[in-house]
Amino acid sequence: MKIAIINGPNLNLLGTREPGIYGRQTFEEFLKTLKEKYADVQIDYFQSNVEGELVNELQRVGFSYDGILLNAAAYTHTSVALGDAIGAIRSPVIEVHISNVSAREEFRKLSYISAKCVGTIAGLGLKGYELALRYFL
Ligand code: DQA
Repeated sequence: MKIAIINGPNLNLLGTREPGIYGRQTFEEFLKTLKEKYADVQIDYFQSNVEGELVNELQRVGFSYDGILLNAAAYTHTSVALGDAIGAIRSPVIEVHISNVSAREEFRKLSYISAKCVGTIAGLGLKGYELALRYFL
């Protein structure tokens, strides 16, 4: 079982970035415990602040991985290219958001990727990544 986690812009700053919204844990700390808990799953992680690099990574993993967990961060609300990339690949993608995007600013209610994903998990903190992973098991 091969799962890819792809995180978009500013998620490299988790732990210090707006902790009231995103919590105090770094993604690296979280990923370490996730990998320990699901030791029989190959979990590959990629983060970029650059839209085109996220498209490249979706294309790279999108024909051979069993599932992709994508937190496109702010590009969720702006990127036709990411939506098109999800539509163009074969691996199923789950959209993950740490915060409850429906309960925040209006612009966060629009997602260019939701319709191309098998489902969305939002508002459950980092736990959302684990729940999305379990969908694929
Ligand atoms: C986010 C929500 C987005 O609206 C925001 O731009 C992010 C993070 C989340 O995980 O809650 O950067 O995707």
